[in-house]
Amino acid sequence: MKKILIIGANGQIGSELIAALRTKYGQDNVIGMDLREPSEEQKKGGPWELGDATSKTSIEALIKKYQIDTVFHLAALLSATGEKDPDLCWRLNMDSLRHVLELAKAHKLQIFWPSSIAAFGPTTPRVNTPQYTSLEPTTMYGVTKVAGELLCQYYKLRWGVDVRSVRYPGLVSWKTPPGGGTTDYAVAIFYDAVQKGSYENFVGPKTVLPMMYMPDAIRGTIELMEAPIEKIKVNTAYNFAAISFSAEELAAVVKKKVPGFSCTYKPDHRQKIADSWPQSIEDKSARADWNWKHQYDLDKMADDMLRNLKKKFGKK
Ligand code: NAD
Ligand code: SER
Repeated sequence: MKKILIIGANGQIGSELIAALRTKYGQDNVIGMDLREPSEEQKKGGPWELGDATSKTSIEALIKKYQIDTVFHLAALLSATGEKDPDLCWRLNMDSLRHVLELAKAHKLQIFWPSSIAAFGPTTPRVNTPQYTSLEPTTMYGVTKVAGELLCQYYKLRWGVDVRSVRYPGLVSWKTPPGGGTTDYAVAIFYDAVQKGSYENFVGPKTVLPMMYMPDAIRGTIELMEAPIEKIKVNTAYNFAAISFSAEELAAVVKKKVPGFSCTYKPDHRQKIADSWPQSIEDKSARADWNWKHQYDLDKMADDMLRNLKKKFGKK
């Protein structure tokens, strides 16, 4: 049986990944680690440890304590928070990845580390962005993703580390709020639709970005990690896509499902980040190599988001 450590387990992705992995591998075989205390409910789900991903000795102590063989390394500063503190963004995102890769080499661990559409930049083709293309991001977050992809490739080719990665698009989910990204508007619109009946978007109506519903992202991540090693042909990070829509298309779908809903637009500093990223991603390699298929389109995602958020906030 696998012994898994999730670093950054309290976040938007980690809080859902940990539940899925515990269902699959048994609750005592999946250890959550985060800088922040988990909720009482999360604590009951299985072993939890408070820890700092920038401390190699703390991570190594957990690897030894639980005889870990697989690490999902999710702790990072995202695009918008990364621009508020680029120095911390570089230190957290890069130091922690370097530690995890060094520990993978020493303890023969399998690693998952996510890249992002933020690895792309203004010189990248914006529509159907290919797997191999220009990577010239203009945010510190994007710089750490490109550097991280190259570091993962280096450890794979030089030291034989089994490290796997995808370039996640914006992830939409209702269980845990997102942690400070540019794509957060695609989540916030659903929260505000249910709680207030209106939303002021921080990007303009014509903004189009690649997105994915969390259940697809979690399933795809686990499928990538379970694929036979000879199927993994991309050494950096796989393009990983599902749906693309504009902010106004998203608002129209919400309006159709929430009578009286209204959306206004007041673009802020995040507009510039959104404009530097692709609108849609071509992910043929993921589909061919490990059989990736998404299941949620915009309509199905919106139905599921609204149903769950209404339940969460006790609304009819
Ligand atoms: P998040 O901000 O929701 O969660 C990150 C977690 O890491 C938080 O719980 C935070 O407390 C924890 N953390 C921060 N500093 C830490 C430290 N020093 N030690 C231990 N834990 C620490 O982020 P997320 O959305 O879950 O993203 C996880 C990963 O996926 C990141 O690498 C991110 O770049 C990537 N990603 C996310 C998205 C998305 O839309 N959510 C898209 C592309 C890529
Ligand atoms: N959702 C992330 C962000 O907006 C993309 O990596 O920062």
